[in-house]
Amino acid sequence: MSVHLEEVPLARPVLGEAEEQAVIEVLRSRQLSLGPRVPAFERAFAARLGVAHACAVSSGTAGLHLALRAAGVRDGDEVVTSPFSFVASANAVVFERARPVFADIDPRTLNLDPAAAAAAITDRTTALLPVHIFGYPADLPAFERLGLPIVEDACEALGAVHGDGTPVGARGHGAVFGFYANKQLTTGEGGMVTTADSAVKERIDSERNQGRAPDMSWLDHDRLGFNYRLSDIACAIGLVQLEHLDDMLAGRARAAAAYRAALAGIEGLELPCEDTAGDRRGWFVFVVQLPRGSDRDDTIRALRERGVQSKPYLPAIHLMTYYREVFGHRPGEFPVCEDVAERSVALPFFPELTDGQVERVAVALREVLGRC
Ligand SMILES: Cc1ncc(COP(=O)(O)O)c(C=O)c1O
Repeated sequence: MSVHLEEVPLARPVLGEAEEQAVIEVLRSRQLSLGPRVPAFERAFAARLGVAHACAVSSGTAGLHLALRAAGVRDGDEVVTSPFSFVASANAVVFERARPVFADIDPRTLNLDPAAAAAAITDRTTALLPVHIFGYPADLPAFERLGLPIVEDACEALGAVHGDGTPVGARGHGAVFGFYANKQLTTGEGGMVTTADSAVKERIDSERNQGRAPDMSWLDHDRLGFNYRLSDIACAIGLVQLEHLDDMLAGRARAAAAYRAALAGIEGLELPCEDTAGDRRGWFVFVVQLPRGSDRDDTIRALRERGVQSKPYLPAIHLMTYYREVFGHRPGEFPVCEDVAERSVALPFFPELTDGQVERVAVALREVLGRC
């Protein structure tokens, strides 16, 4: 008789009674939007990072859009960014009719390579958009030396710390976090932009709310805006999540260490880079690069047959149909990114992943790679 084991899921948020209670309180307050939880969540988030301001928004994508606008990106501009990211980082540039100019990535950190980014700058470049991919801090000091406005995509990097001790998102540039359900902190959907600049805070607060200034009356708007607001329900969940963020981050770090031990020695398998030079990853996903020559689709299928969820993560943005068609990109432009993107697989990863589940994933992967 075969024993049916429950599938190991790819991601699973940690939500408990405190979140449930917080949502009930908002419902009972009858103030579901534009209420007190929004500034409370913003203040708590900014305090946690040690940055002057935070603006709650409806998603990481919305935050990127508003942060790019606040950095002055306009029609016809170029923004230098990473092709190895979730597609939203490049899409946000296109929202403003600017062009995302990709540059290759560092093969160790998988982040935008500062030297490649510098080489991609032209007289139309108005901003840099480094991504802290998989929670590993991008080399911000190197990008800062290039002297252009910076918007940081920190959607995957809550809890990450730069080598000089600055938390990711606290260097003063517009930095954008995402709170989708697989993130270190979730509000279901949501995001936060941090900044040291009070003018940026004011502009984003207005543009997320249809262009209404804080001192204006209802239905009066003095600039173009959007509905990128985050609800009080979401902010109430975020406030509770912030309180146990350290535990959730520690759970992810523990799961990552368990994977490192369990996956050691598989020939050709590349694990996420270790922290170096004081940089500290804020663990988000555990992505491995399969040995060259193995078939990724077969590997994922065989893992699923063994009750283990996994997925390709991430595809190269410039090779997506839209980017090929609109910007004329072709394979071969960013060889490091393309090599990594073809071999990357995200394994189950969440704070409450047990050692037993890690072991099941590792046994399955060893078996499958021996065969594929
Ligand atoms: C690197 C990166 N950028 C942007 C986003 C977009 O965030 P959201 O899904 O909240 O819009 C994500 C989230 O998945 C992400 O991982």
